[in-house]
Amino acid sequence: MNLTIDKVTKTFGTKKALKEIKLEITTGVYGILGANGSGKTTLMRILASVMRPSSGHVYLNGKDIVKMDHRYRELIGYLPQHVGLYKSFSAEKFLAYIASLKGLSKAETKRKVAEVLELVGLAEHRKEKVGKFSGGMKRRVGIAQALLNDPKILIVDEPTAGLDPKERIRFRNLLSKISTNRIVLLSTHIVSDIEFIAKEVLILKDGQLIKKETPQELLAGIEDKVWEVTVAEKEVSHYQSMYKVSNITRNQDKFQLRILSDSKPHQYAKNEIPNLEDLYLYYFDEEDDQLCSY
Ligand SMILES: Nc1ncnc2c1ncn2[C@@H]1O[C@H](COP(=O)(O)OP(=O)(O)OP(=O)(O)O)[C@@H](O)[C@H]1O
Ligand SMILES: [Mg+2]
Repeated sequence: MNLTIDKVTKTFGTKKALKEIKLEITTGVYGILGANGSGKTTLMRILASVMRPSSGHVYLNGKDIVKMDHRYRELIGYLPQHVGLYKSFSAEKFLAYIASLKGLSKAETKRKVAEVLELVGLAEHRKEKVGKFSGGMKRRVGIAQALLNDPKILIVDEPTAGLDPKERIRFRNLLSKISTNRIVLLSTHIVSDIEFIAKEVLILKDGQLIKKETPQELLAGIEDKVWEVTVAEKEVSHYQSMYKVSNITRNQDKFQLRILSDSKPHQYAKNEIPNLEDLYLYYFDEEDDQLCSY
């Protein structure tokens, strides 16, 4: 399976949300990283076929997805960034309702609803009202609805926002499990969500695709740019104003700074092994206050 994104541009009035995106995707998990407004949701909506590009095309195995129309949509599972669930429905009833909207027969609905509830670990809670679920359980209902039609392409837009670490790990494992023989596209601000499960990481900045590499390749690219420096308290603000500082740890009366810099920031600075969080900070500006790590 091969999804080809060919010079996809999307404009809203004068705003260019996506600028000539070119990309090839095969099976596996792809992580999309980018600051607020970088175009993640716009790209995902186009790939989910709920929005058309202003110019450019998307092809699945060489066929234009606009021409494939419902034959393409049948292959898609989509969990939007902001999803509405019917709070007064039980998990089972909600999924059966969505299954009927997706055109599944009664027998298929029964079988698929039971199957996806099991897959997302909500079988025991199937009779409980969705409105009473925790954030993580609601996200799992969201994934379950996206899986009802056994999609070959699963698109999930910031599925882990607001989840606690335990639920995020659970969610990550779930995505990893279901990515066999499917394309899974996952956007996130939280770097640790994709560090271990993504085959490739796509970095969007101002509507442009600036990187498409494996997590290992991305990290190798900043190998000699992560430094550790120990300084006195009064020097901390100087370093913060001069460099991107990814972490500050107090060590008795001194401070250890983790600094991202192309050149050695201090005579005694030591090189450190980079992680994806360093990478995020390296590519995005400090004013992006959405950088979260857990
Ligand atoms: N329907 C729309 N009408 C006008 N502008 C839009 C619309 N949708 C998106 N935009 C603009 O396009 C740009 C990209 O938005 P998009 O939602 O794709 O970003 P994002 O990377 O998903 O951001 P976030 O991390 O906040 O979810 C933003 O500047 C946004 O304001
Ligand atoms: Mg978004």
